[in-house]
Amino acid sequence: MASSDASGLVGRRVVLGISGGIAAYKAIEVCRRLVDAGAHVAPVMTAGAEHFVGRTTFSALGSEPVQTSLWDGPNPIPHTSLGQTADVILVAPATARVLAAYAAGLSTDLLTNTLLATRAPVIVCPAMHTEMWEHPAVQANVATLRARGVHVVEPESGRLAGGDVGAGRLASPEAIVAAVERVLGGGRFAGLHVVVSAGGTREPIDAVRVIANRSSGKQGYAIAAEALARGASVTLVTTVDLPVPHGAAVRSVETAAQMQEAMQELAADADVVVMAAAVADFRPVRAATGKIKKDGGVPEIVLEPTPDILAGLGATKPVGQILVGFAAETSDLVANARAKLERKRLDLIVANDVAAPGVGFQHDTNAVTILGRGALQCTVPLADKRTVAVAVLDIVSQLRAETSTFDPSPHHRSLTP
Ligand code: C5P
Repeated sequence: MASSDASGLVGRRVVLGISGGIAAYKAIEVCRRLVDAGAHVAPVMTAGAEHFVGRTTFSALGSEPVQTSLWDGPNPIPHTSLGQTADVILVAPATARVLAAYAAGLSTDLLTNTLLATRAPVIVCPAMHTEMWEHPAVQANVATLRARGVHVVEPESGRLAGGDVGAGRLASPEAIVAAVERVLGGGRFAGLHVVVSAGGTREPIDAVRVIANRSSGKQGYAIAAEALARGASVTLVTTVDLPVPHGAAVRSVETAAQMQEAMQELAADADVVVMAAAVADFRPVRAATGKIKKDGGVPEIVLEPTPDILAGLGATKPVGQILVGFAAETSDLVANARAKLERKRLDLIVANDVAAPGVGFQHDTNAVTILGRGALQCTVPLADKRTVAVAVLDIVSQLRAETSTFDPSPHHRSLTP
């Protein structure tokens, strides 16, 4: 699916952080392309970067002189003004040190201070030798940053400094500029309120026991992180305790009833609602107040259906809201999901075959078929959950753009995210 066009960069303020790797020379091309496309580029170099490229180069090609220090310029607080005025912060190349400092919240220089002093979306483009890139510490830091909503433009495999060949080469300038365009183009979500539910509900049997399910909440968190990265304000209604994507508001809930209350309240003025949570279908009619003793014999637990939160949201959906549901299936994926889409009055349903390897509950990966009204249907093969989130929100964007002219009659489209 097409991302935003280059005009999305015109007048946008990009803080370009350059850290100390040999790939700093490629950031020159990135800087030039961003400026050519109409962006205002404010370059920030680390001390390490200056070993590879002279600051004059970036001052000449950028939209303003390079900044390198917290202390030497006329502005006493350069990091806050850089961070607060940025539309996006791009770090290319991002060294292992910068990734580690950012993940740990360490502010050791102007660039890392700026990264901590911003609410703008951040894109990091790691580049380093293969051994460093594959080190578990580096991978853990990248995973932490991703979970907080930071965009990562993965390094490529190829020839590295010194003649070695392997993963770790900075992504191409084209790929990096495309990522900036996509993130800024995602500004289509700026001003939107996105509400996402995540995790499985827990229904009490007694004071210590619950009926639960295997949902990890990871897909809902990935959608929240992607919506934040696109400029939305995001509220996450969650039953799990994963690291919260930076900037998300959180409502912690446990039961289907609590989730229903939170979702109904928040959905009333939401632009996009995504029910990624796995809600229990049945709950005990009455939870025992204390712990049920096992010497009292096997207890009889009478169950009742939980409310269908999503169907309720579909029935009361405000005009213009996009409502997205999930369907975990083990057979007849498309037919079952399409029936749910109709019955619950959804705009989109994201169906996954949870019996397939690597798919759905508890995995870091997912493979889904996204169905919409009419014959809208799009398949995302096995990919990390953030990639699935990108595909879902790309289609949400497209539906929002089409809303005024949207034709609800059956029509066939084949979308490739
Ligand atoms: O009907 P089924 O449970 O398969 O539908 C799945 C979708 O409905 C998910 O988006 C889930 O969050 C939502 N759901 C709900 N309330 C329930 C059960 C499911 O909102 N009681």
